[in-house]
Amino acid sequence: MNKLYFLGAITLMVLGCKDKKTEDKVVTEPAYYSEPYRPQFHFSPEANWMNDPNGLVYQDGVYHLFYQYYPDDTVWGPMHWGHAVSKDLVRWEHKPIALYPDEHGLIFSGSAVVDSQNTSGFAKNGETPLVAIFTYHDMDGEKAGRTDFQTQGIAYTLDNGDTWTKFKGNPVIGNEGIKDFRDPKVTWHEASKRWILTLVAGDHAQFYTSPNLKDWTLTGEFGKDYGAHGGVWECPDLFPLQVDGENESKWVLIISINPGAPNGGSGTQYFIGDFDGKTFTTDQKEPKWIDYGTDNYAGVTYNNEPNGDRIFIGWMSNWQYARDTPTKKWRSSMTVPRKLTLQKIGMDYYLTNFPISGIDGLASSELTKSWEVGSSETATQTINGLDQSSIQLKTASKDFSIVYGNSLGEKVVLTLNAGRNQFLVDRSASGKIDFQEDFGNKTHVAPLQLLNGDPVEMEILLDKSSMEVFINGGLLVMTEQVFPNEPYNSITVENNDPEANVIVESIKKMESIW
Ligand code: FRU
Repeated sequence: MNKLYFLGAITLMVLGCKDKKTEDKVVTEPAYYSEPYRPQFHFSPEANWMNDPNGLVYQDGVYHLFYQYYPDDTVWGPMHWGHAVSKDLVRWEHKPIALYPDEHGLIFSGSAVVDSQNTSGFAKNGETPLVAIFTYHDMDGEKAGRTDFQTQGIAYTLDNGDTWTKFKGNPVIGNEGIKDFRDPKVTWHEASKRWILTLVAGDHAQFYTSPNLKDWTLTGEFGKDYGAHGGVWECPDLFPLQVDGENESKWVLIISINPGAPNGGSGTQYFIGDFDGKTFTTDQKEPKWIDYGTDNYAGVTYNNEPNGDRIFIGWMSNWQYARDTPTKKWRSSMTVPRKLTLQKIGMDYYLTNFPISGIDGLASSELTKSWEVGSSETATQTINGLDQSSIQLKTASKDFSIVYGNSLGEKVVLTLNAGRNQFLVDRSASGKIDFQEDFGNKTHVAPLQLLNGDPVEMEILLDKSSMEVFINGGLLVMTEQVFPNEPYNSITVENNDPEANVIVESIKKMESIW
């Protein structure tokens, strides 16, 4: 429901009010998307539970965002695919639920492709099918203690996402007894003129190919001895990416893992290597992390992006406490869409992730003038509207903290400490933290070595209850939820470096997209 409809509905309800009770209810109902902690420039569902982004795909002027959705409660439950669309990846329009559970099970995570050559044969009259490939989770099978309760199914739409038909031959990939067997990501592989599918099977990824999205052949696997294994692998993605500034392209394999992330619970690692149409190989044994914060999980990228960009969206939460966060009407939101680039540093490859330029377009009025904090100085400014802002800063300081605070003394402390080779986020006094023991119990740490001692450019997006910190174009990223009891309205820069200044170039108000 958009704002106008909602206000209209309220007016009608008020006019039609018969008794005092209804009137009270109407008056206390908050305006559209203005509940406490409601993100203003991030995607969140109108009501109830959301987790992973699913089926990220572009077709005919429309970016689709499907997502794991339970429409009947604010905690996880039988999964559907919720649906929203956007023309620019910035402003979203809610659509009805796209996929409902059926006789094969609940609809877990997956992807979507534009079948422009109608390889599936789903189009009969020259339409272009949009095909979703997802995991069926058979709850009864799981309860009965079976191990084959996750299979892969497909569904299609011929009207760009409005009406969906499940394939009669589902499941298209059965299960031979692997308990965690899910989250298929499909893309077209031009070199072999085949569809390729990547899914996770417990502690590794598997690769399949198909000519028609219905018949799949297992061609390879990767990962048993690679990367992090503190929990099960989930939500893979596989795509080629040009190395920035080089005439070289590499394949990127993204794997979420829960638990086992560097700062606890859920996180997303990646590998850079090669893919020959059948399997993925790399000499990278150690995991690299998309985000060192605790709130960027299950992220995947868009298929068929019209500008050839690789755009990533993650679920801004963590299974450690996702069910317990202190929001009432809905639970959780997505990261801003982020553009991925591949950088070669020395002999090694790194993936950066940084907000798409459309998000900058939301940064409107300056909330304060640019300011400079000298060496060994501390300065504070009170800034109304800080809780929905974008900050850009630049510094060669090797030791400084940025503190967001409020009049209750609540604060989030971001610290760069080159001596300890660390970037740290401390949300232990950020506001509500005791809804779950892991939320505020330790400082989150990211290693600094990648930055190479260079001056730092930092962008921080704060949107009511989330903070996204991007250092040096997204080479180092921390995404964190925060739940202050009053909006943060002051910022302190504590510069402990005896030689370098910290320059806060701008603090801008971000417009609401709702
Ligand atoms: C990741 C995940 C997926 C699964 C989905 C279920 O957060 O566990 O592996 O498909 O959530 O909602």
